Amino acid sequence: MAEPLSEVDALVSELTRAEKLSLVRGTRDPEGTATGYLAGVERLGIPPFRLVDGPLGVRAEGKRSTAFPASLATAASFDPDLAHEQAAAMAREAAAHGQHALLAPGVNIVRVPHCGRNFEYLSEDPVLASEVGRALVEGIHDEDIVATVKHFVANNQETNRTEVSANIDERTRRELYLPPFRAAVEAGVGSVMTAYNRVNGTHMSDHEALVTDLLKDEWGFDGYVVSDWYGLETTVGAANAGLDLEMPGVPVEPETDDPDEFEWPDGIPDATHAGLFGKPLDAAIDDGSVSADRLDDMVARVLGQMARIGLLDGTERTGELDSQRHRELAERVAVRGTVLLDNDGVLPLSADADVALVGPHVHEAKLGGGGSSETTPFQSRSPAGGLRARADGTVTTARGIDAIESVSLFDLLPFVEGGRDDSESAPEREPSLSDAVDAASDADIAVVVVRDATTEGRDRDTLSLPGRQDELISAVAAVNDQTVVVLRSGGPVETPWRDEVAAIVECWYPGQADGDALASVLYGDRDPGGRLPVTFAPAETYPTSDERRFPGVDGVAHYDEGLFVGYRHFDATDSVPTYPFGHGHSYASFEYGSAVAIDETTVELSVENVADRPGREVIQAYVQPPTLDDVERPRRELAGFESCSLAPGESRTVSLSLDELAFSRYDMDRGWTVDAGEYTVELARSARDVRETVTIDR
Ligand code: BGC
Repeated sequence: MAEPLSEVDALVSELTRAEKLSLVRGTRDPEGTATGYLAGVERLGIPPFRLVDGPLGVRAEGKRSTAFPASLATAASFDPDLAHEQAAAMAREAAAHGQHALLAPGVNIVRVPHCGRNFEYLSEDPVLASEVGRALVEGIHDEDIVATVKHFVANNQETNRTEVSANIDERTRRELYLPPFRAAVEAGVGSVMTAYNRVNGTHMSDHEALVTDLLKDEWGFDGYVVSDWYGLETTVGAANAGLDLEMPGVPVEPETDDPDEFEWPDGIPDATHAGLFGKPLDAAIDDGSVSADRLDDMVARVLGQMARIGLLDGTERTGELDSQRHRELAERVAVRGTVLLDNDGVLPLSADADVALVGPHVHEAKLGGGGSSETTPFQSRSPAGGLRARADGTVTTARGIDAIESVSLFDLLPFVEGGRDDSESAPEREPSLSDAVDAASDADIAVVVVRDATTEGRDRDTLSLPGRQDELISAVAAVNDQTVVVLRSGGPVETPWRDEVAAIVECWYPGQADGDALASVLYGDRDPGGRLPVTFAPAETYPTSDERRFPGVDGVAHYDEGLFVGYRHFDATDSVPTYPFGHGHSYASFEYGSAVAIDETTVELSVENVADRPGREVIQAYVQPPTLDDVERPRRELAGFESCSLAPGESRTVSLSLDELAFSRYDMDRGWTVDAGEYTVELARSARDVRETVTIDR
């Protein structure tokens, strides 16, 4: 007897060709809130399906949502449980806005420190990116929203992002760039978004080897593959390569007086090029170049996710928006993602200190970078607001220098109105460096708040802070030896003044809770929990300082540094980074007991808080492979991490599970291989601060 048809198969068998086509290509959202929209098929009870950006909170058009810290801050927490909580909260907010799929998380490896979207990504390391990415996917799915892992794969730069070919050998792809996507698939992710770029010459939307052979067949991904917005190149190529859903599906004309002369700016996809899965797909099925079965599969994959989140049952969804717990969570993530880079003892501040709070944007929260992840919060707290609410002493503010121009993808797009206006209310007087210096010399403590400006669609030209911010810091530090620098950046920045100042705090883009999180870290109400998910070093020392590698020549970015990205590179070149991967101080201090290997993939050790205040420690395990004559491997690779919050004098046994990825390598003949030999496991506070070692024979 034939098996009864599943709900989805039964629907597919009822749908007409036109109805099927309407489920694989976006159309305009009548409510105007969604980033991508499918109208559904009313006749068969298939409701509309709404997809919405993005990784830092919900960007429903015209609506407000909680502005969470940047993904890089979330990853800096080294706390997948917290990432899970954040993702679930974002999903509840998506549901409150009537959305069904979140276009998050972004898990591309931070290969290029200049990349304008690093703030939306997680790490230079595949194990950290996989662990945090997996937690984000699971958190979104817990709330019955479809997670969309993006951008598959190698969207590691914004320069020429729609055309550049990332030329990567297979081993490097497998060991470095693909693991976070594989982890998302293992976590059951409902959707994968293809990247705009090419890989080894082929656009990702047309890349059968990666989309069908690897993602769907080898990894068993059973959700739908969605194009990036206007990122579909061909009809037949994409459908046969395994792409299931075209978004947004409707063309937009540039606002220009002379369309013939118009050129799309670098990094901006041609938005007139849409609808490829409409009539052209219909025709391709008619002429047999795409099979009718393929269309059924595309539809079944989309409907399968709608069914999985309960959308086909008509379940009422309420969601939750801007609740007290979401506000507190946004602050908790911001604190836990804050990295204390340096501290000569000035921090934590005493509450009665008189503080000069200096910087061009001290009256404004740093919500995020520019582009599709921009969220508009209900409320936000500036550094000035946060410090004033917490301090017992006086807090004097001085902007010192002109505002740093913010950049947004939306200012570059020729078809939408400008990006978020997060400018302050009109300043009463022009900023002056001497006002800032005077304020700093009169105060006990000077806190200088500085930022970079990054956006989707553009890479940074330099890792230096923009404007006169370096000069401002040095001028303030010259008159106050208790100067604390507070960085907000979308990736590594250069810190040429670091020996002149007493402490440096990196907050990334902290989101709406900015000032409150900052005050609680500076005054020591909470331990700065973060560790660096990316290496900080001078720009010219990164492997991508070679233009063949970044931004590439003749449309090709050669990934011939191979696996030697981030700390793997700094280890291989024996160069000393400014701040190594994994680095970050606690206000407490910790001693590590000797490590014991429990089995092939588990190590235990005791950690004691030897300070007189509570603190959070992040214990990192790196694996050093045995030396082999004919195989090149990174000197050490992150294999796992664990954190613990300890009271003064408290000690705890911490168990770390070690990811197989750190032991294995991808051999072109044998596939995933663990070479026999002795592996040294380093228990460390950063990639350059090893405290204990233990060996494991494999
Ligand atoms: C971005 C995606 C985003 C999409 C929809 C694209 O420009 O690359 O990350 O989800 O737009 O806004």
